[in-house]
Amino acid sequence: MCGIVGYIGEQDATDIIVEGLRKLEYRGYDSAGVAVLKDGRTEIRRAVGKLRNLDKALVERPLTGSVGIGHTRWATHGRPAEQNAHPHAVDGITVVHNGIIENYLELRHRLVQRDRRFSSETDTEIMAHLVAEHAARGLGFVDAVRAALTEVRGAYAFVILSEREPDKIITAKNASPIVIGYGENAEENYVASDIPALLAHTRTFTFLNDGEMAVLSKSGVVVTTLDGQPIEAKVKRVDWSPVMAEKGGHKHFMHKEIFEQPTAIADTIRGRVIMEEARVHLEGMELGDVNRLQRLVITACGTSYHAGLVGKFMIEQIARLPVEVDLASEFRYRQPVIDETTGLLAISQSGETADTLAAIKEGKRHGAPVFAVCNVIESSIARECTGSGGVMYTHAGPEIGVASTKAFTTQLVALHLLAIHLGRERGILDRATAQEMLTNLREVPKQIETMLNREASLVAVARRYAKSKDVLYLGRGPNYPIALEGALKLKEISYIHAEGYAAGEMKHGPIALIDENLPTVAIATQGDAYEKTVSNLEEVRARDGKLIIIASEGDSKIAAIADDVFIVPRNQPLIDPILTVVPLQLLAYHIADINGTDVDQPRNLAKSVTVE
Ligand code: G6P
Repeated sequence: MCGIVGYIGEQDATDIIVEGLRKLEYRGYDSAGVAVLKDGRTEIRRAVGKLRNLDKALVERPLTGSVGIGHTRWATHGRPAEQNAHPHAVDGITVVHNGIIENYLELRHRLVQRDRRFSSETDTEIMAHLVAEHAARGLGFVDAVRAALTEVRGAYAFVILSEREPDKIITAKNASPIVIGYGENAEENYVASDIPALLAHTRTFTFLNDGEMAVLSKSGVVVTTLDGQPIEAKVKRVDWSPVMAEKGGHKHFMHKEIFEQPTAIADTIRGRVIMEEARVHLEGMELGDVNRLQRLVITACGTSYHAGLVGKFMIEQIARLPVEVDLASEFRYRQPVIDETTGLLAISQSGETADTLAAIKEGKRHGAPVFAVCNVIESSIARECTGSGGVMYTHAGPEIGVASTKAFTTQLVALHLLAIHLGRERGILDRATAQEMLTNLREVPKQIETMLNREASLVAVARRYAKSKDVLYLGRGPNYPIALEGALKLKEISYIHAEGYAAGEMKHGPIALIDENLPTVAIATQGDAYEKTVSNLEEVRARDGKLIIIASEGDSKIAAIADDVFIVPRNQPLIDPILTVVPLQLLAYHIADINGTDVDQPRNLAKSVTVE
């Protein structure tokens, strides 16, 4: 899950590449590098750590030239060190790579036996050697790359330069994303791992499919299969503006993305509700005859998994369809019981998470119709589901902060729409109830707005608890996954240990931890479990635990037991999680900001996990 950018044209390649990499740093930030071809010679600059270190290296030793490739790395093979930073060059062939070459050890062993010397511990350098070997036996650049690709196995997106043919950039893809950007005003073309890297230059893209390669020159792009069969590339226009991928005055992308939630949610709903008929139009998702589905299995990772857990409540209660939720990394290793009567629904912001993608492929193998709720259009998961159950896009716009926020709430909205659709199609949900639900859902953007206006009160809470060592999060029913999500947000960006627990389970373990040093964040909004949750919180109080409570508007009793209260507007219980998560996002954000951690790029994490 590294980030790649390449440019060929008349402009200064280094600036374009480095600016593009900045937009991709969410994919990894262990090291970065850039290679530029000038007068038939490649020059490379690399630096360990964030991109700013590469910036410094480029100030000290600038690179000029109008053909180049760059990379920001999330280490898999070989520790984060300059020698392992990409690009890797061998005999005039320079390679950047995202993914893992699975037969790396075997290939390296063979190459070493043929006296090839390695200067890094990476799997990527293998590719540079293989292409160089084929070029040395007389093959042209394209044929040499093609021959090398027949030898490597695994997930890859390669972008490659050759000193002998400096008028080309070659890229090839299998299971790692590659997007080609077409120059709009000049003879130039681009390649990258993701759209935001190229938005400042073009809105016209081709998304390469697995098993395809492309040769970019200044004047054109030729797409073929790996064995050279021509392919007519599908060209798409993407209407994200570059500003959407910038911070827009916020200190961090995460903060901006929390504040974008009202608009993002309105965009998820827009065009999907037919109020008069109380129906939902799912756009690209094609469920077909829903009555053939006996159950749904939701599969996802991280925050998207938490969305799936909330989705189970929504779909089971509204549509009475049984739902299981499985971590994608577990799903396919436990011989899941699925067949054509099971709908397999993947939830993924990026649409590139390797485990989720693999789970979907496993589902397909068993004949299950596969569906996706995705944010990134034309992502691998989205494409894998197209033609089976299809994909429902969340339309949240680019999410750059590693900790997911607007992607999560828009996933919840999409799942709620899906639940209403299923309820209607299955004849469970009557028109009036569906209309009421849809009206309530439409209230959410405004309701979130009112909470965002009260951010200051959460900053004050964050100050009080910023130095905590551990924090417990409690919730019940559909707010239990929100407790998990609140804890995940805090731990990933502030490095404070946090645990989410079902409030009713507290007495079976976590209660032993409660004392005056362990703050508990509890979601106790109105609903069936309100009284019971309050009883659980009384138990915390009785043991001198500090309580930060997320409560519903109009709750006059809760203040008596809470140290701090944050009020969320009233909506119906299944919509509640879309609201209650917002103060938890802000709380985690401000605690991390007060502690000065790297909010948008927390240590060891990456936004898009394209390795298993
Ligand atoms: C990474 C990200 C999380 C995200 C998870 C799943 O761990 O840091 O924010 O929830 O991957 O990603 P996906 O793109 O599939 O939703």
